[in-house]
Amino acid sequence: MGGPMSLLIAATEVRENAYAPYSRFKVGAALRSASGAVYTGCNVENVAYPEGTCAEAGAIAAMIAAGDTRITEVLVIADSPSPVPPCGGCRQKIAEFADGDVTVTLCTTDGKSNAVTVADLLPGSFSAGHMARTNDG
Ligand code: THU
Repeated sequence: MGGPMSLLIAATEVRENAYAPYSRFKVGAALRSASGAVYTGCNVENVAYPEGTCAEAGAIAAMIAAGDTRITEVLVIADSPSPVPPCGGCRQKIAEFADGDVTVTLCTTDGKSNAVTVADLLPGSFSAGHMARTNDG
């Protein structure tokens, strides 16, 4: 069983723990880091709606808390009609820790999937290189 399958299992399992009483839309995310470790996250909603956090953000926070910093693979799953795409904020969060060619597999709980890259999700993204001149004084 290859890498993508273990991310699918991990994301499917963590999705069950999602706290989504307001949207009723549970999301699970799993990512693999450069060390080979797998980190997972689920969405955590709040009665103050903007305070809710996405599954991807949770998985990234777990990776950083564990001391890893580079993402090599991501998978997201939800019970949606078509493979669930990360929100704009999560695209930026993923791009912070992943190269453009990293695969992000978008899945549905009934078996549909769509593999895209980080660059597909966030074309023309803002990066540290755009701030190069701030070092000129
Ligand atoms: N959500 C995620 O956790 N990840 C995504 O990729 C899409 C959206 C969550 C946020 C909110 O809790 C619920 O799904 C509905 O937007």
